[in-house]
Amino acid sequence: MVKTVAPYVASRGRSVLLTVVRESIETERLMLLRPTLADLDDFFAIDGDPLTHLHNPAGPDTTIETSERRLRSYMDDWTTFGIGYWIVRLKPDSDIIGIAGLRSVELLDREVLNLYYRFKPVAWGNGFATEVARAALDVACKDFPGLPVVARTRPTNEPAMAVARKIGLERRLELEGEYVVFTSQW
Ligand SMILES: CC(C)(COP(=O)(O)OP(=O)(O)OC[C@H]1O[C@@H](n2cnc3c(N)ncnc32)[C@H](O)[C@@H]1OP(=O)(O)O)[C@@H](O)C(=O)NCCC(=O)NCCS
Repeated sequence: MVKTVAPYVASRGRSVLLTVVRESIETERLMLLRPTLADLDDFFAIDGDPLTHLHNPAGPDTTIETSERRLRSYMDDWTTFGIGYWIVRLKPDSDIIGIAGLRSVELLDREVLNLYYRFKPVAWGNGFATEVARAALDVACKDFPGLPVVARTRPTNEPAMAVARKIGLERRLELEGEYVVFTSQW
């Protein structure tokens, strides 16, 4: 008989992976890597680009220090939860084209995995966000089977909603306020 072991434990009300196993993943065209401070310049180039915040009233990062704080918080997620957002590199040259992945957050007092994607405008329209989102959903199903994967976006952000739909997330009107909400389960 095969004995299965839960890959994560509950700690202080949140789920924590026992071992970090998904810090480096390859998809057909992409490499997904746990972020480091060495990624800061590329991270700022993406998060500081107004085009990548067209639907975000808060706007882009205007200083590299702001981006550094954000990047460090994404790095901390890996230490705390064993999962977080990846830096997305395009094979074979390894150019950084985006930031995407899963983050442990709370939604309506429930622990969920926030699905996130932000790519350089030159990389848009090639299916890259969908490719990462599919890989992220696969990781969530394997490592955190009890947690909903949730994509939240502004109702004007058609590309972001299209990605959520393409990977099979369902819109949940009852969870919506300011944001449109798609989930894998609830
Ligand atoms: C959202 C984002 C990550 C999508 O990245 P991407 O790599 O271009 O996404 P994909 O190519 O995998 O898929 C995009 C889909 O949106 C569709 N799309 C694009 N513009 C659209 C529009 N105006 N209306 C409807 N669908 C649209 C595309 O046709 C494509 O679907 P298809 O493959 O079925 O044709 C990218 O636009 C981005 O980085 N935006 C800025 C950051 C952002 O808004 N992130 C979401 C935060 S909540």
